[in-house]
Amino acid sequence: MKIKESDLKVLFSEEQIQSKIKELATKMNDFYGNEEVYVVCVLKGAVMFATDLAKHLKMPVKMEFIRLSSYGSGTVSSGKVNAVDISLPDLNDKNVLIIEDIVDKGLTAKFLIDFMHCNFKTKSTKFCSLLDKKCTRSVDIEPDYYGFDVGDEFLIGYGLDFDGYFRNLRYIGFADKKLLEQ
Ligand code: IMP
Ligand code: MG
Repeated sequence: MKIKESDLKVLFSEEQIQSKIKELATKMNDFYGNEEVYVVCVLKGAVMFATDLAKHLKMPVKMEFIRLSSYGSGTVSSGKVNAVDISLPDLNDKNVLIIEDIVDKGLTAKFLIDFMHCNFKTKSTKFCSLLDKKCTRSVDIEPDYYGFDVGDEFLIGYGLDFDGYFRNLRYIGFADKKLLEQ
C-alpha cells in the first residue's frame, strides 16, 4: 500500500457526512411521500452512502445493488464504464433512485440513466450522488440530489477507495498528489 491512513487530511468528517445524509433523506421523504422506491446502489463506492441514507428513508424501500467499474488502478480513470453486474428486477412503473458515491466526468451517471431509459419505462428515475466534482465533468449531466461540491482532488474514504483500500473509513479525506503518484 502506497499511502497510510495518517497521510490523509480530513475533508468531510463523519458528523458532516451523517448530517448531510439526514438533509438529503428529508428532501427525498418530502418528494416521494409514501410511494415505494427502488434504491439502486452502485457498488462498490456507494455502499456506505446508500446504506446510511436508506436508514433515514421513510417510504417503502427495496434495495438493489449493481456493480460498475470505471477506474483502472490508482487515480487514473479508464474513461470507460464496465458493467460488472447489472442484473435488476423489472423496474417498469417503479420509482428508481440511483445512489452513487461521486460524479466525476459523469460517464457512470450517464451510462446508468441511459441504461434505465433503454430497459425500463420507470415511473421516475432520479440520480443521487454524495459528492459532485463539477470541474471535471465531460458529459452534460447533473445529479438530481447531491451532498457536497468538491474540487479536482482524488478523494478517499467512506466508500471511495485508493487501489481498493480505505472504503471502510467513516470520513472522506485526501492525500498529497505526490504520495498518490508514487
Ligand atoms: P465518472 O464516470 O468519471 O463520473 O466517475 C465516477 C466513478 O469514478 C465514481 O463512481 C468513483 O467510483 C470513481 N471516482 C471518481 N472520482 C473519484 C475520487 O476522487 N476518488 C475515488 N473514486 C473516484
Ligand atoms: Mg462509483
